[in-house]
Amino acid sequence: MKALVLSGGKGTRLRPLTYTIPKQLVPVANEPILGYVFGHIRDAGIKEVGVVVSPESQEDVRAYLGKGNRWGVKVRYILQPEPLGLAHAVKTARPFLGDSSFVMYLGDNLLAQGIREFMEDFLAGDADALIFLKEVDNPKAFGVAVLDKQGNIVRLVEKPKKPPSNLALVGVYFFSPRIHDAIDSISPSARGELEITDAIQGLMRSGGTVKGQVLDEWWLDTGKKDDFLAANTVVLDGYVKRSVEGKADAKSRVDGRVQLDKTARVTNSHIRGPVVIGKRCTIVDSFIGPYTTIGHGTRVVNSAIEHSVILDGCLIANIPRLEDSLIGRKARVVREETNHSKALRLLIGDANVVEV
Ligand code: DAU
Repeated sequence: MKALVLSGGKGTRLRPLTYTIPKQLVPVANEPILGYVFGHIRDAGIKEVGVVVSPESQEDVRAYLGKGNRWGVKVRYILQPEPLGLAHAVKTARPFLGDSSFVMYLGDNLLAQGIREFMEDFLAGDADALIFLKEVDNPKAFGVAVLDKQGNIVRLVEKPKKPPSNLALVGVYFFSPRIHDAIDSISPSARGELEITDAIQGLMRSGGTVKGQVLDEWWLDTGKKDDFLAANTVVLDGYVKRSVEGKADAKSRVDGRVQLDKTARVTNSHIRGPVVIGKRCTIVDSFIGPYTTIGHGTRVVNSAIEHSVILDGCLIANIPRLEDSLIGRKARVVREETNHSKALRLLIGDANVVEV
């Protein structure tokens, strides 16, 4: 069994963050999403991992994953020159996959549970594909499955305008090598992509067995800001244990499940978990409230932050209340203490959102 991690594509939805970071490397609780994906692959005991990269993403993805040593796996990079669809990515990876069964894991998906048990079920059974489904509120944004009364998959539609159900395809798929013939027999969809959903339908038509399993635990496609904040909340809730290694002075309070890196410093501040505070952060005269992640090297002074993700190298100063916010790397959100006028002075990059 091999793994194929898709880490190419364009990542337009999480702009402006993804102008500078591939979306698979956007950190959730200070760990890039790909780190969780690789953790699941390692825990399943898979040793050979192909990583599909794009010309834009490859440098950063290679810098983070390296040869895969951190997870005890061997990584092979596969360059997909253009994002021509998930099935096209599999086609591009064919020399790596050979005639092996494989799990395809979309590099921007976060799953609550690992994939080990699913892999064992797949290997023990006779299915040519095992796909996962989850009820969602906005099925138009996903591939959607229609099941019959017995729970068998009848039809799959990609991003339907009129969704036939609210069961979305989760970004993890197990395949036998029969999927390659199915991919060879499909043509690009209306949006110009080779859709894996079409290939799976082709597989069913040619007599292949496709099984579906509905997940009851959470999974998140971290496509948009609110999904991303929700992912941060769920990960902070589920994974963070109290580990206060950094120094908090006598005037500070650190309550609950707080991860404070040993190189971080807290002065005259109140931290109320679940919170993760990264390396070399300084928090001075501030309140960092529940469900907040502070990236490495960020400085927070005289401010209150709640339910937010602040990425690396930021400065947040004199902000009485910042909430439900996602702040990209090296941003400065500063109110001059001497500025008593209501005027805002902004220097904002492309496609940013400021709600005042
Ligand atoms: O997240 C689940 C959804 O993922 C499914 O419900 C959909 O059926 C499936 O098509 C996919 O939809 P997305 O719109 O979320 O796919 P996206 O274009 O974001 O690509 C998913 C991952 O695959 C992402 O990490 C980028 C990578 N990718 C994508 C394409 C189109 C590639 O590596 N190459 C590609 O050509």
